[in-house]
Order: sequence, then C-alpha cells, then structure tokens
Amino acid sequence: MKALVTAGGRATRMRPITHTTNKHLIPLANKPMLAHAVGKIVDAGIRDIVVNVNPGETDIQKVIGDGSAWDARITYVEQVGGPRGLAHIVRNARPYLGEEPFLFFLGDNIILGSIREFVHAFEEQHLDCMLALARVKDPQRFGVPVIEGDRIVRVVEKPETPPSDFAVTGIYVYSPRIFDAVTAITPSARGEYEISDAHTWLIDNGAKVGWREITGWWKDTGKPEDLLEGNALILNELLPEDMIIEGAVHPEARIQGRVAIGKGTTIGPGCLIRGPVTIGAGSTVTDAFIGPHTSIGDGATIAQTEIEHSIVLDRATVRCGCRIVDAIIGKDASVTPADETLPKGHRLIIGDNSVVEL
Ligand code: DAU
Repeated sequence: MKALVTAGGRATRMRPITHTTNKHLIPLANKPMLAHAVGKIVDAGIRDIVVNVNPGETDIQKVIGDGSAWDARITYVEQVGGPRGLAHIVRNARPYLGEEPFLFFLGDNIILGSIREFVHAFEEQHLDCMLALARVKDPQRFGVPVIEGDRIVRVVEKPETPPSDFAVTGIYVYSPRIFDAVTAITPSARGEYEISDAHTWLIDNGAKVGWREITGWWKDTGKPEDLLEGNALILNELLPEDMIIEGAVHPEARIQGRVAIGKGTTIGPGCLIRGPVTIGAGSTVTDAFIGPHTSIGDGATIAQTEIEHSIVLDRATVRCGCRIVDAIIGKDASVTPADETLPKGHRLIIGDNSVVEL
C-alpha cells in the first residue's frame, strides 16, 4: 500500500510563524511535524509515500529528503493550481498512486500510538473507505459524521450545529473508488473540494464506508495552542532512550526527569531543567529554569529566564529576567529586558499577525 500525505495549504491561523516556515516543518519535540507523520506511516508498514506540496515548495524536500532516513521512498507532488481542498489533492495525486488502495494522512494531524490496526481493519473488512473518528469538544472545526445505528450516513464539513461530538480525523484509507468521488464533487461554499463531500458521495453511491474510533490521543494542529499541546504530548511519549544528554552540563546544574540535550549545548551552573524537555545542539543555557513540556531548538540562547510549556525555535534568544509560559518563539527572534536602554518601556518589533501578551 502507498500513502499520500499533505504538506501544502496556507496555514493562515499559524501566522506569523508560517510567514517564513511551512506549517508542516514546525518542530514538535525538535522534530518537524511532517517527520512525525512519516514515522507513523512507516510504522504501519508503508514505505512508498507521496507528499503533496504547494507549487514552488523547496523547503519540505530539503528537510524531509527522499525517505532514506526511514528506509522508505518519498515522492513530492505539486498541487496543480495551489491549495484547493483535500479532495483536490487526492485527484491531483492519482497518477502517482495508481489504481490501488492507499492511506491518506493529513500532515498536520498528530497522533499518539500506532495506526497499524486501523490499516489492517480496512483490508480485513474489504472496505472502500475507512474513517478514523475522535470525540472532540469543538466538532464545528471538523468534518462531522452523521451516524445511524453503527453506520455513517453522511459527513458534514464544519457544521454550525454538529450532528455528533465526533470529528473525522485526517487519517483515511481508500480503495480506488475514492477517485470517482473526488472527480464527481463540486467546490463547497468556501471554494474548496471538500473531502467530507467525497465521503458522502461514496456512501450515497453504495461504497463500503467503515469507521473506527481513535481512543488514544489525536490533535489537528490548526491553531498555535494546538502546537504547544502537541509538543507537550509528544514529549510525554518520548522514551527514556530518546532522552540522551550529549551536551555539557555543569556539575552545579540540576537535571530532573526526562531531558534530551544535543551536542555542543552548554548548561551553566545553577540552571534547573525539569523534563520532559528537549534542547537541540549548540544552544546555551545560563542562569535559567527550563520547565516541563518545553522544546528548545539548535543554536538558541536562554539566559536569566524561566520558561515552560513553550517552543523556542533555532537561534532564538530569550534573556528577559522574567517568566515565559505557553510561548512560541520563532527562529532568530529575540526577547530581551526593557531596562537596558532608555526611555523605559516595552520596545517591540512585532511581525504581522503576531500575538503578544504584556
Ligand atoms: O484534521 C481533520 C480535518 O481536516 C477534518 O475533520 C476535515 O474534514 C478536513 O476537511 C480537514 O479540515 P481542516 O480545515 O483542518 O483542513 P486544512 O485546510 O487544515 O488542511 C489539512 C491538511 O491539508 C494540512 O496538512 C494542510 C493540507 N492542505 C490543505 C489544503 C486546503 C494542502 O496540502 N492543500 C490544500 O489545498
């Protein structure tokens, strides 16, 4: 079986980070979001992977590569005409998938645990479409199934009044009948070829559509706070063997719980790092507390600061004499104290769409 993974779209709700970084390359626990998806797909025994990208994309290919890191083969396909919806992606990728069953995985969906059983159940039940459902508090953000008895009879995309508290997650397995569905449907009111409409089309046209509930944890990383939650849960899932300390930790620094520290990183005297925390390579931590569920990238500087439940990207500097929580700090960004220059006050250079709480 092959897999099709999404890595395009606009990700406007993730600005300003997505002004310069494709959302799927934002690191969670110091690994790009898309690499987590590829890991889950390979774990399910699928090694032939097609990745959908926006026209002109080059960063994803550079970072993720040809799949050899996973002993897999990755082919990149540009979405002709740009982001026009999930059903459009399937239609566009048809020549690369062939007339065989395939797994469709939305690259911004984060799950814990394995999808092996899910793929297996599709094969065993000889289905045309297998949907993974998860119970959510805000179904209006998702495709929502209408369930009668144990059958899905329709899927409604982002309904104002949700017919159930289930979301259809971004993990699907299809037979080639999906190609008939994505060719038959027309764009929705928001101008996109909706995957939910393709699912309803399959049901209306006699295809076998099954479903399973994901009972572990699942997250669609649509909003910045989802990234922080995703980062925290992936850090929680990391095993002690993933937590290697390669950097130099001063004897008077304290490391508590599961902490990974990359090569060339230095942790100065008096610092307290309380895991789960991951710190990349070549970073410097001085006179700081790094609290649970924090990921710090490569070449970053954290000094005279307390920080927790946050993501700090590569080469950022956080040296502010205060406590930072629930923050996402972009590449090369700098957070420094206001009292070093006159006049006193908050001196801000904030990119478009930034959010700052003072
Ligand atoms: O996450 C599950 C939800 O995903 C489902 O419940 C919805 O039914 C489904 O429509 C989808 O909704 P989203 O609004 O979350 O989709 P989003 O626009 O965020 O796109 C999902 C993925 O596809 C993401 O990896 C970005 C990528 N994408 C999106 C579009 C519209 C593309 O690569 N090309 C596109 O044209």
